[in-house]
Amino acid sequence: MMTMTRPIPKEEGLDHSLAFLREGYLYVPNRRKSFQSNLFETRLLGERVICLGGGEAAALFYDADKFVRKDAAPKRLLKTLFGEDGVQTLDGSAHTHRKQMFMALMFPQNIKRLTKLVSREWERALDASADETVLYDTAQEVLMRAVCEWAGVPLRESEVARRTDEMRLLFESGTALGPKHVRGRAARSSAEAWVRGMVEEVRKNRLLPNEQTALYEFSWHRDEAGHLLPADVVAVEVINILRPTVAVSIYVLFTVLALHQFPEARDRLARGETEPTWFVQEVRRFYPFFPVTAARVKQDFAWNGFTFEEGTLVLLDLYGTNHDPSLWTEPDTFNPDRFKDWTESPFTFIPQGGGDVDFGHRCAGEHVTIAIMRETIDVFLTRYRYEVPPQDLSYSFVDFPSLPKSRFVLNQIQKNE
Ligand code: HEM
Repeated sequence: MMTMTRPIPKEEGLDHSLAFLREGYLYVPNRRKSFQSNLFETRLLGERVICLGGGEAAALFYDADKFVRKDAAPKRLLKTLFGEDGVQTLDGSAHTHRKQMFMALMFPQNIKRLTKLVSREWERALDASADETVLYDTAQEVLMRAVCEWAGVPLRESEVARRTDEMRLLFESGTALGPKHVRGRAARSSAEAWVRGMVEEVRKNRLLPNEQTALYEFSWHRDEAGHLLPADVVAVEVINILRPTVAVSIYVLFTVLALHQFPEARDRLARGETEPTWFVQEVRRFYPFFPVTAARVKQDFAWNGFTFEEGTLVLLDLYGTNHDPSLWTEPDTFNPDRFKDWTESPFTFIPQGGGDVDFGHRCAGEHVTIAIMRETIDVFLTRYRYEVPPQDLSYSFVDFPSLPKSRFVLNQIQKNE
């Protein structure tokens, strides 16, 4: 049988990197709308790129027979956000084996252990808070202290501020230009050297983290051939636990912002009419975080009559899929109760990637993220009260990461007795 081939809608022009920077989270959704198509072709950073969005396209993107991650992430992201030779860059059985190393930490009791540490750190920070607290900064220190203890990483009091700043720079500098990007690279070198030193100590039995911590399990993890990982790679992977947990501070901000911006939804939550998990899911769906994720075509194939050529860079629209009007009713309305009767799908709700977590590249920390966000609701809706002074809480759709401009200042924080 002959299959019809058709051209992929194409954005004409030499390069659209500037438009991508200018439109940010909306670059891909805007073109999906104007082309009336869930895929289109463009040129970014001098390269031909296919952009995909929507549930059907996400299912295609997560088919590991069709796409690989090798050479998909730009070098500047590897030098800052991700690190080199980490799980994000692997394919096939090497990926599955490494991913298992992460997933072995993500069982409910262990996640509970982290949540309890987060809860303890919130109390310590908020009980001692000054008149004015910048939530973004406080959340990062809270999460850094908690995740280091969880991961078996010793963090001296005197280095809390510096190491927390390093983690922040890793996720703030990935797409930054100029001096901030340079500082991001320096932060990566410094953080990797710090953790690599610990891995060496663990392997000499001079540092003894508990079992079921990232530092212990990753230091002693063996690859498919039975070899220990290079200490550099263990450092990258331990940082793949620390950095994104500190980045949950962004969702902490958006959770508290949602409580502030949507008083009706907040009241329903307070009255127990809305489940905390629905609220958390709606925060993850509604607010911008990761705009896209990237892969390359493994070998030529055809899909719906469109030809995908080996090696082509492909971007999946995460933000736009979570706001796709053909998948979500009134996608730009904040409505946690939409999750009440939601039929779970691995391809339509993808703030942290889609597909299968064990066999694909979906985020290893989704349950950790949800647990910390639920804890945020408990702290900021139930356990503490506070005032929100006048400030600029707007967030931009072109900055990565997108954050309320004021970083969310709270004052008169008091414990509810
Ligand atoms: C702050 C909230 C978070 C967001 C928005 C987020 C988002 C993502 C995204 C978009 C991906 C890539 C998915 C893909 O390419 O298909 C990813 C992968 C990953 N995330 Fe997260 N993440 C978050 C929190 C966490 C946490 C708390 C952890 C660990 C404790 C974590 C660990 C990982 C790892 C290890 C990967 C790589 C998975 C792989 O390549 O197989 N993330 N995350």
